[in-house]
Amino acid sequence: MAWWTLAVLLLSLSIVCCAESIQEFTSSTLINNVVQDPLTGRIYVGAINAIYQLDSLLKQEKKVETGPKRDSRHCTPPIQSCHDAKMTDNTNKLLLVHPSNGSLIVCGSLFKGICSLRKLSSIDHLIYYNDSKGEKAYVVSSEETVSVVGVMSTFTKENDTFDVFVVGKGYGSQGNMELISTRILQDFGNWDVFEDIVEAPAVQVTPFVKKYRHNFRYSFKESGFIYFLFTRTRGGLHNKNFTFISRLCEDDHHYYSYMELQLSCGPNNMYNKAQAAFVSSPGEELARNLSASGQYGQVRSQDKILFVVSSTDEDKPHSGLCMYPLRYINQRIMEIISACYTKNGKIGNKVAVDSPYTTSYKCSADFLPSPLASTPGFALAAQAVHTTKDLLMAVAVAVEAERTVAFLGTSNGNVYHVSTAAEGTVLGSGLYLYSISMVPVEECDMMKDCKSCMDLKDPYCGWCALEGR
Ligand SMILES: *[C@@H]1O[C@H](CO)[C@@H](O)[C@H](O)[C@H]1NC(C)=O
Ligand SMILES: *[C@@H]1O[C@H](CO)[C@@H](O)[C@H](O)[C@H]1NC(C)=O
Ligand SMILES: *[C@@H]1O[C@H](CO)[C@@H](O)[C@H](O)[C@H]1NC(C)=O
Ligand SMILES: *[C@@H]1O[C@H](CO)[C@@H](O)[C@H](O)[C@H]1NC(C)=O
Ligand SMILES: *[C@@H]1O[C@H](CO)[C@@H](O)[C@H](O)[C@H]1NC(C)=O
Repeated sequence: MAWWTLAVLLLSLSIVCCAESIQEFTSSTLINNVVQDPLTGRIYVGAINAIYQLDSLLKQEKKVETGPKRDSRHCTPPIQSCHDAKMTDNTNKLLLVHPSNGSLIVCGSLFKGICSLRKLSSIDHLIYYNDSKGEKAYVVSSEETVSVVGVMSTFTKENDTFDVFVVGKGYGSQGNMELISTRILQDFGNWDVFEDIVEAPAVQVTPFVKKYRHNFRYSFKESGFIYFLFTRTRGGLHNKNFTFISRLCEDDHHYYSYMELQLSCGPNNMYNKAQAAFVSSPGEELARNLSASGQYGQVRSQDKILFVVSSTDEDKPHSGLCMYPLRYINQRIMEIISACYTKNGKIGNKVAVDSPYTTSYKCSADFLPSPLASTPGFALAAQAVHTTKDLLMAVAVAVEAERTVAFLGTSNGNVYHVSTAAEGTVLGSGLYLYSISMVPVEECDMMKDCKSCMDLKDPYCGWCALEGR
């Protein structure tokens, strides 16, 4: 499955008006992850068996082969005399820009999911890699079906502040059961590069975690909180997946603040399974529309909105796009936490919060043995603002001159364009599984020719010309 986000398309719209040809980059193998360095505009692509460094116009600067290499899930790295080892593909699991170190964090599926650091300006320069550090260096997962997300952060201990990245990872059939881990990016005292420096047994070694089938989809950081969006079951015999967002404080050394809130999308939570998400400001028009709907309170154009594409459970899944203002998410989380500490977990006589990962739970206890989550009745609901019979697997959002445009990627590689002004237009097919293209944000059919487009001083007008209009 391709996990690449559309985000980069929108970040990289530094466009030459009426350029000669569409900038496009094509990989010979499936693309797993894409990130951009905001400082240089460079784009990094993590694909199966290769990492690419592109300039901001998608021209390839460097390519590094990362596989296939001799490996086996049963072998402990370094792989030397392991009988099971055979040529194995390397799927990119995590790609992050580490600006203060000038490096790219690259974690692949080979060798139990060990990471490396490569130079941002020249990825063929390996800054750090060590496969002899044992279990503490196994950051991601060697399993194809286990998705991994991560976000850069810092960790302060006494007078020292360290760069770290915080990882959300499901559990397949092997490897560690750490749902969330905080990985340091330098050696310090007894800590080694990539070691998990947080001990939080509540979130990390819950013996029940296997049953919940966490599938992480997105993570982001905002105003001192780190958020993870994922799906999971309710455990036990229940097999149905639901969408959750979890939040923790960035400076929480024990994940005590970790809390899960269910998100539902569409009538009766019809679109129960999140596939991808994106955080963006809504822009003037959408903010007005959201405010006017009366569902989310007052929404301002500079607020942050979580855009989620979710699918149904059917054999041929349909999908919907739902929006959740972050302020609305935070407010519900606060209500639930305070119900926990002051009202025995109840809101209006209904149980609003429980502890899904343990059987024994007491809401007002000083120390909780495992994280809290909202009960289904207190899930945060949103209407599906756009629905389709396709399986949506990627979403990115851009705001241009008041108007909000969402790009939706389908499982067969098509990209749709949905905006507050017009219904979905198909931009192109096969666009995103193997290739990255720059795409127009503005609707080209509004302009007759390149000149009138340029007269409007629309930064995206170059693309109208490219579409032959
Ligand atoms: C890798 O780690 C091992 C174990 O800590 C250490 O002995 C070795 O020197 C390290 N190798 C490099 C190249 O740093
Ligand atoms: C931290 O810094 C303060 C002020 O500079 C100093 O008094 C204190 O001893 C330092 N603490 C540690 C553990 O280094
Ligand atoms: C980047 O991090 C690595 C690993 O901690 C370290 O060896 C290297 O010196 C750092 N480089 C810079 C420029 O900070
Ligand atoms: C729920 O998700 C898990 C893992 O992502 C998957 O194996 C399982 O089939 C899903 N359940 C349903 C009913 O689709
Ligand atoms: C929000 O926008 C949609 C689509 O343009 C429109 O149908 C709906 O009426 C708007 N809602 C409000 C409250 O303005």
